[in-house]
Amino acid sequence: MAKNQALHQWKIEDSIELYGIHNWGAGFFDVANNGEVVFLPSGKDGPTISLLEIIAGLQERGYDMPVLLRIENILASRIAAIHQSFRKAIKNLGYQGEYRGVFPVKVNQQQQVVEKIVQAGMPYHHGLEVGSKGELLAALSLIRDREACLVCNGYKDEEFFNLGLQAQRLGFNVFFVLELPGELAVLLKLSQRLGVRPQIGVRSKLAAKATGHWTDSGGERSSFGLSISEIVDVVDTLKANNMLDCLRLLHYHLGSQISNIRDIRTGVMEGTRMYQGLVQEGAAMGFLNLGGGLAVDYDGSHTNYITSRNYTLDEYCTDVVEAIMTILDEQNIAHPHIITESGRATVAYYSILLFNILDTSVVEETPVPEELPENTPEAVRNLHEAYAALNIRNLQECYNDAIYYHDEVRKLFSTGQINLRTRNLGERIFWALLMRIAREKAHLKNVPRDFEDIDVILADIYYGNFSVFQSLPDAWAIDQLFPVIPIHRLQEFPSRQGIISDITCDSDGRIDHFIDPKGRKATLDLHPLKKGEEYYLGVFLVGAYQETLGDLHNLMGDTNVVAIRADDDGGYQYVREIRGDSVADILTYVEYEPRRILEDLRTTAELAVREGRISASERYSIMQAFEDGLRGYTYFER
Ligand SMILES: Cc1ncc(COP(=O)(O)O)c(C=O)c1O
Repeated sequence: MAKNQALHQWKIEDSIELYGIHNWGAGFFDVANNGEVVFLPSGKDGPTISLLEIIAGLQERGYDMPVLLRIENILASRIAAIHQSFRKAIKNLGYQGEYRGVFPVKVNQQQQVVEKIVQAGMPYHHGLEVGSKGELLAALSLIRDREACLVCNGYKDEEFFNLGLQAQRLGFNVFFVLELPGELAVLLKLSQRLGVRPQIGVRSKLAAKATGHWTDSGGERSSFGLSISEIVDVVDTLKANNMLDCLRLLHYHLGSQISNIRDIRTGVMEGTRMYQGLVQEGAAMGFLNLGGGLAVDYDGSHTNYITSRNYTLDEYCTDVVEAIMTILDEQNIAHPHIITESGRATVAYYSILLFNILDTSVVEETPVPEELPENTPEAVRNLHEAYAALNIRNLQECYNDAIYYHDEVRKLFSTGQINLRTRNLGERIFWALLMRIAREKAHLKNVPRDFEDIDVILADIYYGNFSVFQSLPDAWAIDQLFPVIPIHRLQEFPSRQGIISDITCDSDGRIDHFIDPKGRKATLDLHPLKKGEEYYLGVFLVGAYQETLGDLHNLMGDTNVVAIRADDDGGYQYVREIRGDSVADILTYVEYEPRRILEDLRTTAELAVREGRISASERYSIMQAFEDGLRGYTYFER
């Protein structure tokens, strides 16, 4: 769409389509008539809550950007959706077992999050999966429902087993999943000592593998789980100890974010065969645990691309239930209770990172002079000639010249053969050339590959008040895509193409790949900044894995975290607030003592008084500034 036309005709529906909001939003988000992104607490016909209004409320309460916003209703809704979908499939297919979900605590260990999951999961006996002693103790402090499963995965030492067995004595529904061959001996020794008959599970290394980032979690050479021969050894040992009735569960985990339903089906079939084998060995069994993997459609493309999934939740549940039934019915084996450890699909939607844009850097098109000074070097002249000759038919040739002579100009400058002003002239012509090529290429039917990078080179840089390393580690580490969108002004045409740079001093601290229905794109459509007005962006679906993987790069600490709970009538409450780290907090994490820093600074300031650099009262105000600095937020404060 031509720019002028777009400016006049741009509608909210265009923004909804451009940013794919209805594709990835899972019905939780929409855009209001005033161009603001809204949350829909009770579906599309219900009331709406503007994210901008939430930010205004936070600012009145003294919270600066960035803020991690959690919406409690979403969490409850996701847990209900997973259970209802499984219940529907179970009922429709006449499956005899039940569905029991567990939330893998590693996906978001924050107390507030796990507590909410436990509360929202109570009506469904939704349990927790833990992979370490710390996670186990956290889970024990939160689970109230004795029917909810508490699945202990991960490598377990004597203390881990002991904690779990003591929990079982208190009435918790604990499953110990054996991940290493040596674990069984430790468990048997301890359980005999305590007189507890444990519920034992085995994690199987399936041959099946899922494609995607986490493909190594599955397959026979995966680091986790037991091989077939090790599982047979477990059966023999339990038999010998008269404890085969304690073997209750088979577990496997193919990997996270399984985007292709075929991989899920292949895994379930192989897992069910393993389950069948264990029943035929005489184990009591009763539970089949498929691990995680239920994917989130981050890019909204509904495909088997790694940031999407080619199935719906209902299709996932139906396929799983049907595959298990088909195999076990052939063998007349009772249907087990199905456990899944869905992490990402439970919490991703729940959190949004909100931040403001501090400034932009824009490549300016400055006028190119018609005549060049007489002594202009050859390289700059050639750039000028390319600029003058450019037309739709010679774009590639002019582009090649632009790149070559721009390089020459830089070399001449580095070797001292041209001065600053001549270099500047060359740069101006080069950038003007690229901008004209960028405009002209829009009229080409077949755009040469070389031109693909031009938009990126010319993109504006929007400086966002956040840290990729702290808040979106997967965007940096594994190029994970998240939906990033402006949360207001969506009735306006986003006339700029930009990338987003964070406020760490690291060239990796940027977001330069964005969701797109055709795959991924390198720039994001954004609005030009307006003087005196904030511009806010939101990064959506960040509730899974991001918070605890984040780090303190450049000493940017935890952001402010605020949870809201919406009522059905469109009202909402700020139910929980956690102030982000202060500068003093993060200095403490890296072994500084804020008190000692102040003492040292006080000594330096006193010396300055003695040397006559400052007065005693100036020392007072300088020290106040340092104290305020230590108390302040680690992010940019307006
Ligand atoms: C054993 C186990 N279960 C469950 C999960 C959660 O997976 P997801 O977030 O894809 O549901 C993981 C994470 O990789 C895992 O290792």
